[in-house]
Amino acid sequence: DWTMAEFRKTKIEEIRAQVGDGKVICGLSGGVDSAVAAVLIHEAIGDQLTCVFVDHGLLRMNEREQVETLFRDHYNIPLVVVDAEQRFMAGLDGVTDPEKKRKFIGGEFINVFEEEARKIGGADFLAQGTLYPDVIESVSFTGGPSVTIKSHHNVGGLPERMNMKLVEPLRELFKDEVRVLGRELGLPEIFVGRHPFPGPGLAIRIPGAVNKERCDILRKADAIYLEEIRNAGLYDAIWQAFAVLLPVKTVGVMGDHRTYDSVCGLRAVTSTDGMTADVYPFDGAFLASVATRIVNEVRGVNRVVYDYTSKPPGTIEWE
Ligand code: XMP
Repeated sequence: DWTMAEFRKTKIEEIRAQVGDGKVICGLSGGVDSAVAAVLIHEAIGDQLTCVFVDHGLLRMNEREQVETLFRDHYNIPLVVVDAEQRFMAGLDGVTDPEKKRKFIGGEFINVFEEEARKIGGADFLAQGTLYPDVIESVSFTGGPSVTIKSHHNVGGLPERMNMKLVEPLRELFKDEVRVLGRELGLPEIFVGRHPFPGPGLAIRIPGAVNKERCDILRKADAIYLEEIRNAGLYDAIWQAFAVLLPVKTVGVMGDHRTYDSVCGLRAVTSTDGMTADVYPFDGAFLASVATRIVNEVRGVNRVVYDYTSKPPGTIEWE
């Protein structure tokens, strides 16, 4: 793509001019935006960049391994991976309110990130994969512009506290343009085409109390659902697809015995910006086969339901 090739060249010059011989630290989320920002910045300033990936135990199946493989092995970008699962699980213990979950996770993420930044001797710049829609709208609204429906913590907070200047090379881009730039930079399709994933991760896909056991159950169900979607060739037609694990137990029967286990909800929507969304109309046979696999393969789930709510009036995430 000619335009993106130009954009890439221009941005590399800008990053070099801004950073000079300073040190840059970049938090990776596993998502497209931070990955593209990091690879672009690394191309500009090489090992003046260090990436930090916080594994809060709320990630999807194999996400951490994919980040390690890509950044450490493929691009050779200095990468610090922090195993913070226990810390996050301890702090989430007994927290059921969605905004309290967000508040804790956002705050603890900053704590962990700051500690790691200190360990590597600090940095002059903080790199973020902020996009144009993040610049104009850092919270999502439904009813009117005065109502905050959910607080998104991926912008703000960190820079002020860490007293670092920002490097945000994607500030003028929309999501689809970031994907084009990612391909231009040679990022594998599994990163570039990946569905958006919220900062608070699986915690807001487990209504009610969150713990490691429930995260493990949800990760398995979610992986099966996404595998089936990929196998059916539908992944790229969907904006976001994911499973949720409900705090409700229902009765089932398996073989000749009674089961009493959790309900798993499946969500899939089409959207262009996440502000509004339509339900993805899977055919019934597809959903039935996903449900069968999940109930047969995931211990702790004995019933699967599909969410038919558009946004509005629903939101994409359940919390
Ligand atoms: P909702 O659920 O508000 O989601 O319809 C709209 C888009 O935002 C994502 N989302 C979040 N992203 N922190 C994030 O970084 C959050 O707290 C958060 N909550 C929702 C959601 O996945 C969807 O893409």
